[in-house]
Amino acid sequence: MNVLIIGANGQIGTRLSKQLKKSDHKPIAMVRKEEQVDKFREKDIETVLGDLEEDFSHAFENVDAVVFTAGSGGDTPKSQTKVIDEQGAKKAIDKAKNAGVNRFIMVSALKANRDQDLWSEPMQHYYEAKSNADEYLRASGLDYTILMPGRLTNEEGTGKVELSGHIEKLEGRDITRDDVASVIVQLLEAENTVAKSLDLLQGETPIDEAVSQIS
Ligand SMILES: NC(=O)c1ccc[n+]([C@@H]2O[C@H](COP(=O)([O-])OP(=O)(O)OC[C@H]3O[C@@H](n4cnc5c(N)ncnc54)[C@H](OP(=O)(O)O)[C@@H]3O)[C@@H](O)[C@H]2O)c1
Repeated sequence: MNVLIIGANGQIGTRLSKQLKKSDHKPIAMVRKEEQVDKFREKDIETVLGDLEEDFSHAFENVDAVVFTAGSGGDTPKSQTKVIDEQGAKKAIDKAKNAGVNRFIMVSALKANRDQDLWSEPMQHYYEAKSNADEYLRASGLDYTILMPGRLTNEEGTGKVELSGHIEKLEGRDITRDDVASVIVQLLEAENTVAKSLDLLQGETPIDEAVSQIS
């Protein structure tokens, strides 16, 4: 599959680009600045320039699947979370539909589909943006999978996760960005994960098994 990665220069996006390059799939890294292109070109990864705040329709040419792993980050004003994590994601969903690209994997966040009482006050705008984008994707008719990872770390991946529609025990747990990227690689062709929203934390199950067990 030709896989457009929106947010490719980010911490998950960079890992995902590398992993997809080694797989049977072809990553196409969407980056928003000319100076970010070389990092991918050096690894022989195709890039396309595109900014979520401008028109990026051209990025969807010859694409079979989209992974949305962009985000405004914690250091921007709250309004920017809405612009990128919600409106940017919704635009990407519309553009995928218009281009006939059916497979869409969204990197959302754990708790975005839970009761709002679980959303801490400073993070409410963030969960709201993620939740609105996820709802839009669920209603889009696309073959979506919404991945809801917990707190991300930069430790080396363990290759073992807990992946399910609802993880009960959340406290004190996290997930490496390496393992999030590995899960995304496996999700791409896993038809059993279409139309699913999946919590993701570090666990005991090898990633290929964890993905194939989803029903
Ligand atoms: N941090 C956590 O614990 C946590 C937990 C669960 C889920 N998540 C979510 O997981 C996702 C990926 O996380 P991460 O750590 O990889 O994030 P990250 O390193 O901040 O990457 C986000 C990427 O989005 C890109 N981006 C921002 N604005 C853009 C725009 N206007 N046009 C195009 N691209 C734009 C950034 O581009 P530049 O490189 O040019 O800045 C960056 O590459 C995010 O959506 C985040 O909310 C995070």
